[in-house]
Amino acid sequence: MRLLASFLLFSLLQAQDAFLVKPYLQLGDAPRITKFERLDLLWQTEDRDGAWVVEVQGPRGWQPQAVPTFRTLNAPPLAAHRIYRSVLRQLPPGQRLPYRLKLGGQVVFESTAQARKAGAHRLVVFGDAANGSKEQSAIAQAVAATQPDAVFITGDLVYGRGRASEYRDHFFPVYNSEAAPLLRSIPFIGVVGNHDVPWAQLPDASAFFAYWSLPLNGPALKAGEPNAAPAKAGVHDAMVAAAGPAFPSMGSFSFDYGQVHWTVLDSNRYADWESPALKAWLEADLKAAQHATWRIVALHHPLFQSAKSHEEDQWMRPISPLLERYHVDLVLAGHVHNYQRTAPLRFQPTKIGERGRPVEGSFQVDEAFDGQTHTRAQGIIHIVTGAGGAELYDPWQTDAKTSWQHWTRAFVSDQHSFTVLDVDGKTLKLRQLNAAGRELDAITMTK
Ligand SMILES: [Fe+2]
Repeated sequence: MRLLASFLLFSLLQAQDAFLVKPYLQLGDAPRITKFERLDLLWQTEDRDGAWVVEVQGPRGWQPQAVPTFRTLNAPPLAAHRIYRSVLRQLPPGQRLPYRLKLGGQVVFESTAQARKAGAHRLVVFGDAANGSKEQSAIAQAVAATQPDAVFITGDLVYGRGRASEYRDHFFPVYNSEAAPLLRSIPFIGVVGNHDVPWAQLPDASAFFAYWSLPLNGPALKAGEPNAAPAKAGVHDAMVAAAGPAFPSMGSFSFDYGQVHWTVLDSNRYADWESPALKAWLEADLKAAQHATWRIVALHHPLFQSAKSHEEDQWMRPISPLLERYHVDLVLAGHVHNYQRTAPLRFQPTKIGERGRPVEGSFQVDEAFDGQTHTRAQGIIHIVTGAGGAELYDPWQTDAKTSWQHWTRAFVSDQHSFTVLDVDGKTLKLRQLNAAGRELDAITMTK
């Protein structure tokens, strides 16, 4: 009996010791939906060898996956650590499958993985997220309660500077807690914000490129060249090495989920979407996505928004005509820490000045769309969903309608919130919920 008790205690300690960061799911380099889906499973450990085995439960019992690989990140202040990766393969689309990790023959972690769905699905979106606040945790728990199939974060993933040490402190523990066990069971997808890219003298900044695993089908970018996230030689070398092929190309990419095509853009100042290389990629991506029922563009910096904060940062406006031409339905952004929704818009720029100045132009506003009885939008609806955890901006504007641009239809800046997208064929429902799960705004779009 005593032997059994000490064995159980040993097993428990081994399980707790096994991880610096518990297993988390990623979409991986898998842009399109296939007959057999895959997901990347990552976890982090101290820099020492371990006999890791990952198994997925299939119809014929537990199936061992390919031997996990790892990269080591050695960027202070954290000690050198390993980022392990295993690809879960042969997943039937839409199914939720049990998986487990063994270390030295001992099961040290078990959960389930939600494979990408080909049809109806629920995706949750929020931005400006992990700052370690109680609001961040409350939103994480409210998100978990909606039981999404995947989460998309619209940038400023981790404050203050997207550092590995900050991920360890207030990203992984919050979104993979017992209260909100999201990361272990559904894939997180995200885009870099201004806080997620290489920063000054911080060697562990831009951990996004080493810690996330997303499609690598974006514009061909080389480190040090225009439009690429600017890493500093001698400062960010360890991060770049640990990122492998993800740096700098994982900044922009596209993927499909259900009937939706997502185009994800790095909107930071260094990326010029008017440059021929980036513009050609964007056009080709949207052109090839006309088969999808819905097209969503996700990025950090909004094209159109009404808050006084970051009013000058609407430099992505010039891409609007291209998005309109290829029938984009929704643009999802963050950066501005509140919730905003526009009427369906068409925009023709007349004056593209220096960056940091709003782009001027003419608007065509669909006044008939109300999201209730008139649900076919003529133009693109722009959503700011940057109230995922960080301190809110301009709460006074919630009740000051005269301070909104004439095309803004909803503005909630006095509480944290997140977006729930329910897509089923030709119907897309968008709801904005607060941390208590209360609905702040809701529209239905149809084709
Ligand atoms: Fe931002």
